[in-house]
Amino acid sequence: MKAAVVHEVGGVPRYEDFPDPVPREGEVVVRVRAVAVENVDRAIVAGQHYAAARYLTELPMIPTFDGVGELADGTLVTFGDLRPPYGALAELCAVDARLTRPIPAGIDPAVLSALSSAVTAMSIRTAGELDRGQTVLVQGGTGVAGRLSIKIARLLGAGRIVATGRDDDQLRELRELGADTVINTAVPDDDLLRAYRGALGDGYHVIADYLWGRPTGLLLRALIPETFALGQRTRLIQIGELAGAEVALPAASLRTSGLQIVGAATGFDADTFAAVYEQVLSWIRAGELTIELETVPLRDIEAAWCRTDLRGRRLVVTP
Ligand SMILES: NC(=O)c1ccc[n+]([C@@H]2O[C@H](COP(=O)([O-])OP(=O)(O)OC[C@H]3O[C@@H](n4cnc5c(N)ncnc54)[C@H](OP(=O)(O)O)[C@@H]3O)[C@@H](O)[C@H]2O)c1
Repeated sequence: MKAAVVHEVGGVPRYEDFPDPVPREGEVVVRVRAVAVENVDRAIVAGQHYAAARYLTELPMIPTFDGVGELADGTLVTFGDLRPPYGALAELCAVDARLTRPIPAGIDPAVLSALSSAVTAMSIRTAGELDRGQTVLVQGGTGVAGRLSIKIARLLGAGRIVATGRDDDQLRELRELGADTVINTAVPDDDLLRAYRGALGDGYHVIADYLWGRPTGLLLRALIPETFALGQRTRLIQIGELAGAEVALPAASLRTSGLQIVGAATGFDADTFAAVYEQVLSWIRAGELTIELETVPLRDIEAAWCRTDLRGRRLVVTP
């Protein structure tokens, strides 16, 4: 079969021949139809993700671990949890039959393959416990996940949405998606601190943080109240680390600001996941939520893997 094949840690996948997967007991072969490529996949191939070791035990390998495919009888299914060195960026995958699910009606397979960032953005409700009318800050709003967070915050009834990014053109696009206020983080520290304080209003109730690093360190400083009055609750949801793996956490920002820091997985269990998944699907079917895609054929993977011009569109590969 043809597949996207990586030969060394940090390498770029190439369109090459690879042995067909041989199904073990309990596995079925699917013909792959759509696979989303995300930053986590690139981080694994680069050996920079905490789960990388599991996927890089054998080289050459095929990246990415889930997608949408077709069974021998023509049923379209979602699949995941592949056995390395096999991954989803291939014509064929052998998958645990118990982990295949027929795809829900009325959803384009390519959109379905890219759903995970929308599910993660729902952490604004599951981990952030947003109430209608409250303020959401999307820290790192210009990527796929950030843009979905803005749209989903609006659908969840946020009263005010503040979004950050580092490019003025893209920040203008975020206003069109529903952000009321945008902040450019590519400014000197004091200016950024002032911008966070200036947009604070009656507080950031929920922060969806895709950046961490310097901008989030400054945001935490901006939350420190300037009087002895106790701050109201701010739930910061840690989701991504595009601006750095570590953050400076001033003691005062926790002591009196009402700040709570939680991970995106907080509050997610099987029941919550099912409810969130259904909610996202229902918004997509109704046309209330869209996920912008850049669809490319598998043979173009080498160039597509390195693209930096996607501006909020998810790369989806269709073998
Ligand atoms: N935990 C989860 O379940 C989950 C789910 C989805 C995403 N994530 C994580 O969330 C992050 C975003 O993912 P994504 O898929 O939305 O990424 P993406 O589509 O590739 O977009 C990344 C965006 O971040 C911006 N950016 C990069 N570095 C920045 C910095 N230092 N300051 C400000 N903006 C910066 C980029 O802006 P430019 O265009 O200006 O470069 C780009 O708009 C990643 O870390 C990803 O791993 C986690």
